[in-house]
Amino acid sequence: IFAAVEMAPRDPILGLNEAFNADSRSTKVNLGVGVYFDDNGKIPLLGAVRSAEKTRLEAAPPRGYQPIEGPVAYNSAVQNLLFGADSAIIRDGRVVTAQALGGTGALRIGGDLIKRIVPGATVYISDPSWENHRALFEAAGFPVDTYPYYDPATRGANAEAMIAKLNTLPAGSVIVLHACCHNPTGADLTEAQWAEVVKACASRGLIPFLDMAYQGFADGIEPDAVAVNLFAASGLSFFVSSSFSKSFSLYGERVGALSIVTQTKDESARVLSQLKRVIRTNYSNPPIHGGAIVSAVLSTPTLRAEWEAELAGMRDRIRAMRTGLVDKLASRNIDQDFSFVIKQRGMFSYTGLTAAQVERMKDEFGIYAVGTGRICLAALNTKNLDYVADAIAAVVKG
Ligand code: LMR
Repeated sequence: IFAAVEMAPRDPILGLNEAFNADSRSTKVNLGVGVYFDDNGKIPLLGAVRSAEKTRLEAAPPRGYQPIEGPVAYNSAVQNLLFGADSAIIRDGRVVTAQALGGTGALRIGGDLIKRIVPGATVYISDPSWENHRALFEAAGFPVDTYPYYDPATRGANAEAMIAKLNTLPAGSVIVLHACCHNPTGADLTEAQWAEVVKACASRGLIPFLDMAYQGFADGIEPDAVAVNLFAASGLSFFVSSSFSKSFSLYGERVGALSIVTQTKDESARVLSQLKRVIRTNYSNPPIHGGAIVSAVLSTPTLRAEWEAELAGMRDRIRAMRTGLVDKLASRNIDQDFSFVIKQRGMFSYTGLTAAQVERMKDEFGIYAVGTGRICLAALNTKNLDYVADAIAAVVKG
């Protein structure tokens, strides 16, 4: 059966973890995967999560099957976080939410559903985008193309080029948008530019699919929902995949959600019925633990306040690492100005390091980054900052 099976390439992001784990150097640093580490280099277990877990363990609840789309309490907590508790689209029954296996799982069930509804669509992702966007929409059976996004000259988003492209696309095209903390570039659109994107989606009849994996990592929970809220106010139908991997530090629990905004309550019921078929034939229904913890934290005022403070702490530490890296590099006597790193948002910096420079960082220093030059600032800490700055300085000096 397997004689002709070829070796598949390593995943460009998670594959780095495998190589990193196999590296025996004690000074190694993993700036590859988008995971938040604390100043001691550990993935934190948040205090709010710990409290909710303790309560749950004591209650010793049974482990029956969940509803196919996940529990109402979880799905409603997700909606409130994305759209605001007083949102008109929630009140009008225009939002359908299903718990999903992380943000990736949400994108995939969304992709599978769209394939059933608009089988001939092409999916457009930003250039560049998270590596897995292309792979998973191709796996769902779509041709995947790109729209222009990043301008290396300004190190920012080129909204004009992006919107010009959107305005040429055929109706029914799926547009994958990074709602905040663009991965990999860290370059986000302004509110005014988002309004233009919404307008283009409306006038062309596009299918917006917002990927919201980093809510709370740019400016805060509400401000980071600016794009989602503009779409919600537009009257359009759209998709949102969201994730608690980062914001709750629950990566391996695979806690995310797919939310679909429809035109009417009746449409919602029909869309949910189809989404349930997609889920049932994939993994049947979602696991309990992570979602139960998230909904307990979000619906218990003291735990929610604790979580918001912990999320702000992660956000602030990443910002401090951005400034720290820029300062350290400035003192290393190199020609290149890295001050743009301070302006980028979220966990990542698109450093402009070439694939060859990234390779040298790995070979000579045991520092792992994505081949595109993306580094995860949330893996920097006060102990490895000098070492990383030395390595970057060494490879850019040539
Ligand atoms: C990343 O981009 O590193 C994260 O979103 C983790 C992943 O699944 O790739």
